[in-house]
Order: sequence, then structure tokens, then C-alpha cells
Amino acid sequence: EAAEKGGYQHFMLKEINEQPKAVRDTLAGRLPDGSDVKLDDIKLSADDINKINKIFIVACGTAYHAGLVGKNLIERLAKIPVEADIASEFRYRDPLVDEHSLTIVISQSGETADTLAAMREAKKKGSRILAVTNVVGSSVAREADDVLYTWAGPEIAVASTKAYTTQLVSMYLLAIKLGLERGTITEDYAEMLKSELRQLSEKIQKILDNQDTVQKLADNNYTAKDVFFLGRGLDYSVSMEGSLKLKEISYIHSEAYAAGELKHGTLALIENGTLVIALVTQKHLYDKMLSNIKEVTTRGAHVIAVALESMREIEKAVDDVIYIPDCAEEVAPVLAVIPLQLLAYYMAVARGCDVDKPRNLAKSVTVE
Ligand code: G6P
Repeated sequence: EAAEKGGYQHFMLKEINEQPKAVRDTLAGRLPDGSDVKLDDIKLSADDINKINKIFIVACGTAYHAGLVGKNLIERLAKIPVEADIASEFRYRDPLVDEHSLTIVISQSGETADTLAAMREAKKKGSRILAVTNVVGSSVAREADDVLYTWAGPEIAVASTKAYTTQLVSMYLLAIKLGLERGTITEDYAEMLKSELRQLSEKIQKILDNQDTVQKLADNNYTAKDVFFLGRGLDYSVSMEGSLKLKEISYIHSEAYAAGELKHGTLALIENGTLVIALVTQKHLYDKMLSNIKEVTTRGAHVIAVALESMREIEKAVDDVIYIPDCAEEVAPVLAVIPLQLLAYYMAVARGCDVDKPRNLAKSVTVE
């Protein structure tokens, strides 16, 4: 097993560090020069794409969090209404799926029972199914009409890391493709996003090269009892993933909250010293986030911000900052999640937890 870990203490750390390659492999061959996106396993014709009037994204756990980013991006780029659903909820709520719907199923393993059941339900109602999965020949891949493979390689640690970032990348590829086919984005905009995607791998590496900073913050904060993750827009979706990572491997209670919603409840839980992780990567929401940060610092919270390098002035408003390289705000989730994975990892290690095999959890849940 030590050999399989390639010199890392845990599979999770190895997989976190494999993300530059996983992202590069998932993009390989799919971003030709120009504005086009090449997705060979997707047989949806231009006509099929133009007939879609609603998209459902269905998944569990981390894959669901990737779906939330997908919803935001597809609506923004392709102007198709998207609902992101937890698979175990979707199948019992009689969703308004029909033959004009596209159901996107995201599953690392391709074997999650709830996800499979939701997919079959959507298929029964006449929806076309597009699977985003990491396992070639898995059940979702076999049963779907179209497949978009993530090329993360085998993921062993129960807490998903590289599968998530490659699922995000797949969401961008799809959103750009749908946007171009429906004529809802310009070629220039598509090319800009493609160039941002091509730079991700190197930028992830930059964050990884700086993991000592995150480890120090983890060592200073691992005794926290509760942690609150705050964000707006895409940062809110990333907060949910950061919170899940932390709770599943460190057993610290944590919650993700839409920063604007704080004042409607969670603010009551902020006390002197409460740890808050604030995500600040969305320039158009910067001022709003600053005022939410103020709401918690006034109550004594200890705030660690995850912000873009160019946002240096944030230092005045918080206790610590983890910087990520500047990027277009659309692709920021792929970078912002990396320090959150590292923070969860190092806090769990500091607490002596079994990082790769957290209690009560399984890598693939094949029972409902
Ligand atoms: C389990 C794993 C999670 C994963 C979820 C969905 O709960 O512990 O890491 O996100 O299943 O798995 P899937 O294989 O469908 O992506």
C-alpha cells in the first residue's frame, strides 16, 4: 500500500496533488484552437441541443456540489433553465421531466444506487441522459445516451478531491458547448474561457506548491468545534464542498452558508473565536462579501479568507488570507476548492483521524 501511495502519507494527499494532471487529462483533446469544444462521446446533434428546454443535474455528495456549479454555468452560458437535484430527492418528487429534458448524471464511480435510480426514473419519463463519470464502462456510462468521461484516474480516498475538480472542468466544457450550439455566447467569450481552462493546471500547481501556508493555518485551527464556510454565487457552491470535506474527514461540525443569508439565522451561532472561512473570488460580489465578513468579525469570529491574489486589500478585513492565482471568476471554483481540500486534510491529520477511511462512510454507496 505504501508503494501505491507514491510516497504520500495518505491517498487523499496523493490525489489532491494529482489534480494538475487530472485536470490536464480531462481537457486533453477537447479544446482545439478556436472557439470549438470537442466532446466525442456526446452524440447530441445541434438540433437536439436546440430542442432542450430544461436540464436536470442529478448526483450525490461531492458530485452534487459539482452539479451546482454546472447549473450556474449552463444557465449563464446556454440560457437553459437548470435544476440541480440530490439524486435521492429527485426520484421521489415526481420531477417535471419529459422528452425535451436533458438529464445530466454526475457520478465518480458510476455505481451510486440513488444516482442510478434517479437516472432510470428520468429515462422512464423520456429524458435523454448524459453521464459524467470517472469509470469507463460503469453502470451510468452503460445506461446513458451520452458520456463525458472525467480522466481523474482511480480515486481511492473516500473523500473525493480530483474527481470533483475534473467534474467541474466537465461542466465548463459542456456549458461552453451548449452555449456555442445555441448561439448564446460569442466565440470570443468561448475562447477566453478556453484559455482560462488551459491555464488551470498550472495555477493549481502554484497553490499546491504553497501548501505549507495552509498546513500552518490548519495547525493553528484544528481544535475548532464549529466551522462556518461563507460565500456568494459560485463561492457558495464551493463553500458547500469545503464544508463537506472538513466534516467528513475531521469530524468537526461545519456548515456552508450563503453569505447574504447569515443574518437570517446562522449569525446567532457566531461567537468570540468562531472559525469562519470566507470565499472571496467573485469580483462582482466583492463588496457584498466584505460586508458579510464584517458582520462576523464584529461578533468576534476568526476569519480566514480564500481570495484572488489581486485582492490584497482583503488583508485589512480578516485574520488570515490564502491567496489563489487570479483567474476569470467563472473558473475560480476549480482553484478555490484546492486550499479547502488541503485545510480539511491537514486539520484531520492534526486531529489524528483516519483520513482515507472516515468512520461510517464508504467510497461508493451501492445501497439506497
Ligand atoms: C459517497 C462518497 C462521496 C461521493 C458520493 C457520490 O458518499 O463518499 O465522496 O461524492 O458517494 O459518489 P459518486 O461515485 O456517485 O460520485
